[in-house]
Amino acid sequence: MTAKPEHLHHDFNLVLIGFRGTGKTQVGARLARALGRPLVDLDQVLVQEAGRSIAEIVAQDGWAAFRQREKELAARYAASRGLVLATGGGVILDPDNVRALREHGVIIWLTADAATIRERLLKDQPTDEGRPSLTGSDPVQEIEEVLQARLPLYQAAARIIIDTRHRTVAEVAERVLEMVRSRSNTIF
Ligand code: S3P
Repeated sequence: MTAKPEHLHHDFNLVLIGFRGTGKTQVGARLARALGRPLVDLDQVLVQEAGRSIAEIVAQDGWAAFRQREKELAARYAASRGLVLATGGGVILDPDNVRALREHGVIIWLTADAATIRERLLKDQPTDEGRPSLTGSDPVQEIEEVLQARLPLYQAAARIIIDTRHRTVAEVAERVLEMVRSRSNTIF
């Protein structure tokens, strides 16, 4: 990772998608630093604007209300340029989000298998506040089922796919940069 920010020859947003625990926020922070670009983490903005945690929003208003807020934010930031955007794991559930994020952005899917995700979520403290159960069962138990159901959606949305298993955050970020550089002629 270079110390001096590197400038890409385009102002497309770099949009990170993927299941919980694939490192979108941490990789996004690293990329933003390397590129001298702002990082916008949609879940963090959502929580700040709502003044409540995701768990509270979902408990009080339901998932549909959360998804509506998420959609508004996705549309707002998708219209910007030159950002690194970290999204919530369910952003791909709404095709409007994918369409909007693609317009000025290259969508990068960070992948991991269910066992790796389970391990990372168990280590990750904010899990309960930020990641209420998606199905009503335990958030760790439900991984396999939800991941399977979503795989085609992540796959269809992504222009670049990066396996995060056995890679550190720094290594994943470096791989994103390599892929973006090497494909910049064809994808932008
Ligand atoms: C969700 C993932 C969470 C958060 C919300 C819903 C999902 O984001 O947006 O709990 O549907 O997968 P992370 O992927 O950042 O954990």
